[in-house]
Amino acid sequence: MPQIFPKKANNLPVVSLVGTMFGGVLLILLVWYYFSPDFLWTGYQPSQPVEFSHRLHAGELGMDCQYCHNWVEVSSHANVPSTQTCMNCHNQIQTQSLKLLPVRESWASGRPIEWVKVHHLPDYAHFSHAGHVDAGVGCETCHGQISEMEVVYQAESLSMGWCLECHRQPELYLRPNEEITTMNYVQPADFVERNLERIREQGIQPPTNCSACHY
Ligand code: HEC
Ligand code: HEC
Ligand code: HEC
Ligand code: HEC
Ligand code: HEC
Repeated sequence: MPQIFPKKANNLPVVSLVGTMFGGVLLILLVWYYFSPDFLWTGYQPSQPVEFSHRLHAGELGMDCQYCHNWVEVSSHANVPSTQTCMNCHNQIQTQSLKLLPVRESWASGRPIEWVKVHHLPDYAHFSHAGHVDAGVGCETCHGQISEMEVVYQAESLSMGWCLECHRQPELYLRPNEEITTMNYVQPADFVERNLERIREQGIQPPTNCSACHY
């Protein structure tokens, strides 16, 4: 989907209203109203320097996400893999493929492949993978059916309203940690009860105060 307006244009009504705002409660309600989960950025799908397919690697070949995106459970960023990770296989598989020429060139020169970032949060909003993955939020919940994507696109809005929808009711979204990278996860019938129990036991409490995400 082509992106028609710059990302910030969506926020202009809020900015002008904030100037004339009085009570804090009213401000919060308006902010929530304006940041409904719909967002122009959804569907953003830049083309990449290599025709790398998640549908093939994570889908058909069944590779685990963490083979390539390691450290998500301990780090704020989910690494995009280095050329070496690709060459673990592609020094033997499809060694003459033209599609893999940029990968072989990167390996020979030591210059990393310049993957185009798909998901962006603005600098004023802070997000870390580790806390989410450890608390049982699956990749699929935030990134969609990656294992069916030929080219990755942004499946969810990543708007503030979207973050808060889950932060207010995490019991609707969590799954056991061994299912974090599972695609097409099927929720058991009693998943809300199980999640409520886990939330109580582990004291899971996603923040809704402004300063948790804006500092
Ligand atoms: C063989 C390695 C490999 C595997 C396995 C893999 N990925 Fe990726 N992933 C990549 C590469 C390379 C990129 C950067 C290029 C692109 O966007 O396609 C990427 C990009 C992404 C992005 C977009 C990052 C951004 O720029 O915002 C997401 C999200 C993602 N992968 C999630 C997953 C998930 C979820 C799985 C498991 C279902 C998975 N990946 C499995 C290699 C892999
Ligand atoms: C709670 C939502 C959420 C979950 C769960 C999640 N991600 Fe992300 N992911 C994001 C957001 C938001 C960004 C953009 C971060 C930014 O721009 O600062 C992102 C960015 C990425 C990127 C690009 C590199 C980076 O860190 O900016 C990759 C790769 C990625 N995610 C892979 C994964 C994988 C693999 C999993 C599962 C193990 C996963 N994500 C789980 C929300 C999530
Ligand atoms: C675990 C092994 C493995 C890893 C790691 C791996 N691939 Fe692959 N890749 C394959 C296999 C198997 C095929 C399918 C080969 C075929 O169709 O004959 C393939 C096919 C491809 C193709 C299509 C080639 C063509 O000409 O059709 C591209 C492009 C590709 N991989 C890119 C990458 C990139 C980029 C990475 C690193 C981010 C990567 N692969 C990591 C196993 C791997
Ligand atoms: C599907 C559910 C879900 C979504 C979507 C989600 N979160 Fe969270 N978030 C959680 C859970 C669960 C926790 C963990 C709370 C705990 O461990 O007490 C958390 C914790 C956090 C924390 C505090 C802990 C940390 O990791 O620093 C911040 C900040 C945060 N989230 C920001 C965001 C932002 C920004 C977004 C949107 C881009 C977002 N979250 C989207 C569920 C979610
Ligand atoms: C769970 C994390 C989270 C919490 C809590 C949160 N925000 Fe946000 N906020 C975000 C994210 C993510 C964005 C960026 C969304 C986007 O890219 O559209 C954002 C964007 C904004 C913007 C838009 C800035 C602009 O460009 O004009 C304002 C204003 C804002 N937040 C105010 C608040 C206020 C006030 C609160 C407290 C009531 C709050 N936020 C609480 C995550 C959060």
